[in-house]
Order: sequence, then structure tokens, then C-alpha cells
Amino acid sequence: MSYMVMGVSGSGKSTVGRLLAERLQLHFIDADDHHLATSVEKMSQGIPLTDDDRWEWLQKLNHLLQQAENTNQEVVLACSALKGQYRQILGEGLASPLKIIYLHGEEDVLRSRLGNRKGHFMTDVLLQSQLQTLEIPQEALHLNIVHTPEELVTQIMQHFKPDSASPSFTVSSVASLGIIGMGVMGKSLALNLAGKGISVAVFNRTVPGKEEQVAERFAEENQTLPLLPFSELPQFVQALEKPRRILLMVKAGRAVEELLDQIQPLLEEGDLVMDGGNSQYQDTTRRVAEMKTRQVHFLGVGISGGEEGALKGPSLMPGGEKAGYEKVADILNFLAAQDKNGKPCCTYVGPDGAGHFVKMVHNGIEYAEMQALAEAYQLFRYHLNFSPSGIVEEFTKWQESGLNSYLLEITIAILQKQEDGTLLLDKILDAADQKGTGGWSTAAALELGTSLDSIAAAVMARHLSALKEQRVQAATLYGIEPEQLVGVPLLHAQQLKQAFEGVKLINHAFGFELMRQASLQFQWNLNLSEIARIWTNGCIIRSQLMEELVEMLKTEGPLLQHPCIVERLSAIFLPFKETVAAGIKANAALPVSSAALNYFLGYNTVQSPANLIQAQRDYFGAHTFRRTDQPVDQYFHVDW
Ligand code: 6PG
Repeated sequence: MSYMVMGVSGSGKSTVGRLLAERLQLHFIDADDHHLATSVEKMSQGIPLTDDDRWEWLQKLNHLLQQAENTNQEVVLACSALKGQYRQILGEGLASPLKIIYLHGEEDVLRSRLGNRKGHFMTDVLLQSQLQTLEIPQEALHLNIVHTPEELVTQIMQHFKPDSASPSFTVSSVASLGIIGMGVMGKSLALNLAGKGISVAVFNRTVPGKEEQVAERFAEENQTLPLLPFSELPQFVQALEKPRRILLMVKAGRAVEELLDQIQPLLEEGDLVMDGGNSQYQDTTRRVAEMKTRQVHFLGVGISGGEEGALKGPSLMPGGEKAGYEKVADILNFLAAQDKNGKPCCTYVGPDGAGHFVKMVHNGIEYAEMQALAEAYQLFRYHLNFSPSGIVEEFTKWQESGLNSYLLEITIAILQKQEDGTLLLDKILDAADQKGTGGWSTAAALELGTSLDSIAAAVMARHLSALKEQRVQAATLYGIEPEQLVGVPLLHAQQLKQAFEGVKLINHAFGFELMRQASLQFQWNLNLSEIARIWTNGCIIRSQLMEELVEMLKTEGPLLQHPCIVERLSAIFLPFKETVAAGIKANAALPVSSAALNYFLGYNTVQSPANLIQAQRDYFGAHTFRRTDQPVDQYFHVDW
């Protein structure tokens, strides 16, 4: 098995590769020595190489690797290997895959290294083009070039050949990223990055008797990973490479505020702090501005995907200072899930609290989608007499016919989970909790003057669910019970599916419209299609629909007027309406489905009764009105 040390120009791949070959007593190949003369000429004139310039060179290197393998030799190759396709050519025909080491570093560091180089054809002008071409490898050991070549080689050996590494090896005292807060999410994110070879300093507060040595124990449990544990903030901060990059994974609100107060005196100009919790976007906007006055960058990073997402790759929504984002883009992109084209589910969302705003809307859609699924479940179970396994069958059909989503997938799993021979779901109290993001979305819609009916209804449904005792009493007081819909021709499984599709389309339209309004009013320049793209994987609301929205949102205008949505909603309007009507007639509370349908009906009403509202306002308060028989910008008052 051979090694390949890769990275852009200035990353030190030749130095590290040569040293690694020396330490392992292997033959060293420097890809730079094998460039075609025409390519060297081009590069020395500052002209970037194209794919066509590189094919022959890559094939030549692959041939050398094959030759080595055929003669049972391990080699170390140092090569830029910028694209996945290039790495594929380099590894072609090899029985054992290359062990890839990716050296990465800050652009400024790379640039200054190139500036110091003499007699080399690679100019720093070409660095920019290399950075643009670079596709970060997933299957590789990632090492930050802040370490010395000796340290890097020790880390490589420890990773690939733990037995041969020096026994005195300790993880370098410089970490690429610091994570504060070793809750489930903080730990999972640390494991995600450290598992890919990025050194992470981890910190957890000490609460006597409750939280002691949390970071230390976590690092101990994961001894093979480059984790540096701390219980003291000054030491934690000192262990970070500069500019420091710190991710807060603590409870939104007071905890963030307190930590920022403690950490600020320890930071230097140019350092960066990220808040990865579900903070209120207004708080983030304020913090971005406050930290800027202290020359420290602040980013509000929406993170979605729960524990599993954090571990395997979440969807990331960073917002705040662009200059700050650029300092951490490599790590965030590396941490994130990938979309179907292999691009990271991470993008710079916008300035101020835009990242947290977008995450808040994500959660608003999440609330509405969860409630819509709960309503469909309720109709199946209590009004159509379906057994849980029957519902699983129906939901599985939905999953296989265009409505697939992560939330539907977990709902199917939940409906199958047994405990002591009975359905666990039946033992869960029907009172839903919430931490605020759905309500904040609703408040934002009110402030921005845009509609969010079904999302607001989902929040209110959680409030109502929490009133368990009152609900039980009311049912006795009023004597209203669920009625069966069995045998009613108007409602069958297919119609329920179509109704759910209608609700789903409208929920998403609300969410994206809210972001469109925020973008206009706050001048955030949000790219809605790109936001849908980073929501196609890693996050809780990933779905087939989200994939489709990426394309649809490339055109301007409200989603509900997009030809594809118009076609779909028109096709299902009748069963959608009939399902909601029949459900309500059978005493099913359908807050989200009915709110979505109600909005849709209102949206299609040419002559609304709002003229009467205007007349009433003018009657009692002389609030004036506009007339249909006069220019539309003129206001009138009548002595009623
Ligand atoms: C995610 C989730 C997550 C959120 C939970 C719980 O995207 O990973 O949205 O951020 O905390 O869904 O939210 P509630 O407690 O408000 O339901």
C-alpha cells in the first residue's frame, strides 16, 4: 500500500512526503518532477493548468504507482491531486487503495510560503486557481500545516502505522478547532472532525457533583482520536492554532452570553467564534456587531441533523461576517454532509443573524411537517381503523412514490418500535414539548408581515397538546368523540396521501416565502435555491421535495406560483379538500392540514371579503380605504 501526500501549492507536500519516505524507508516520488515540459512552461508564465494538461501527467504517475505495486514496493507520492477525478486516475488499477494524506492550511499561510520560495515554477498567482479547483477528499487523513513537518509525519505514522510510531508520541498541542460544550451535539461534532484527522480541542465547564472532567473523560474514551481535553478556558484557548476558531455548542440564551463574556478577554484580533446552537437570530445579529468592535469575527451557524447528523455530517447554515466564514469554510465544508453531487451541505448564508434565521425557518417547516404526519397518522389510526402495521404499509408506499423524507422514514420506524410486546408509541404521553424555534418563526412572520399559517398552527397544536388534563375534561364536558370514516367513499388511503402532499407543498412555500421576505427587508441577499440544496442532506427536513425545490427556486417569485407547484396542487386539490373536510366532519382536529387548505383557498379567492373590513375600519375610525373605481394609490373616507 502506497501513500499519497496531497494539497495545493505551498502546503508542504513534497517536504512532508520526502520526510515520510525517509522515516518509513520507502521510495519517494515527487509529482512535480514528472510534469510535461509544456506544463512547466505554462505554470512559470503564471497560466493555470487545465484538465487536458493534467491527464498524461496523472497517467504517468499512475503507471509509476502500478509498477511499484507489481514489484511489491510501497512508495510515497507527493502530488497536488486536486480533484476527485484526478485521484481516481492516480489510483486506477491498484489492488490496494492509496493511503491519502491531505495537507490543508490558511490561504495567507500558503501564500506567504510561496512568496518565500525561490527557483520554483509555481507562482502564488496559480494558488488561487488551485484553491478553486480543489475538491477536498473525504477518504483521507486531514492534517493542518500549522504543525511542523516532523510532527505531521509522526501523526501520519501514528494514524496508518500505530505500532511503528514513536512511543513518546502525543497529539500536537495545537488544535485546528475548539469546541465548547460536550453535550450530545458537541461530542458528535468533535468525533466527526477528529475521526477525519482534524485535531480538536474540547472544553466543558465544571459543575461540582454534576459535570466534572467531562472533556477529559470524553477524550479518554476516544484515545485514538486527536482530541485535546480541557476544563479551563485559558488553557483551551491557548491550545488553538491562530487565528483561533471556536465553536460554541451550548444552550441558546444565557449560556452563550456568559461564555462570550468569559472568552472575549482571551481572544486576539482576527479570532473567530461560532455559535452552533439554536440561538435567536436577533441575538446573533447583535453579537456579530458587538464582536466586530473587538476585532473578533462571530458567526451564527445553524446546524441541523441531530446526533446522527452531527456525527456523520450535518447540514450547516453559517451566517455573520463573511471574512470570518472564510477562515473556517474548509473545516465547515469538511464537517458537513454532502449533497447528491458530492458538494458539501454548507454554504455562507448571509450577514448578521441570517444563518440562525434560516435554521429557525428550517425548524418551522420541521414543526409543520411533523404535525402534518401526526395528523395523517391520526386519521388512519382513529378514524379509518388502520392498525399501526397497516399505517406502516401506507407510509411505506408514500415513501416509495415521491413523498420520501427523513421525517416520514423515522415515523415508519417509530410505528414499528415495540417495547415488551406492545407499541412504544402508545405509552408516550401525548403532550409535545418545544424549545422555541417554531414560535420564533411565527413571530418573525408577524414582524415581517408575511403568512405562515400552517407553521403557526403547528406551534399552537403543540401548546394545545400540552393541556392534557383540560383536553380530557373537555372531552367529557362536550362529549365529542372521534367518528369512524370506514366505508366513507370520500376518504381512503390514496386521498390521504394527496392531502399530505398538498400540506407539504404549502408548508414549504410558507417557509421559503418567509426567507424571501427577510432577505428583502434585511438586505441579506439569501439564495433560496442554495438553501434548499444544503437542506437536501444532513438535515431533519431533507426530502425528495427538497431536491425538486433546488431547481424550482432558481426562478424568482413565490413558490405557489411556480408552474410545477401549480400543476401539482391543482391535481390534488380535490382529494386535499375532501380529506380535510371529511376529517373535520369526523371530529378530527387537523390544525396544520386545515390551516394549509384555508390559506390555499384564500390565496385563490379573487373577491375576498376584505372590502368589508376596510369599510368597518373607516366607519369606526376613519382609517380610509381605496376604491376599485378610482386610482389604486388614492385613499378615501366616507361619512358613514
Ligand atoms: C435539527 C433540529 C434541532 C431541534 C430539535 C428540537 O435541525 O437538528 O431542528 O435543532 O433542536 O428538532 O426542537 P424542539 O424541541 O423545538 O422540537
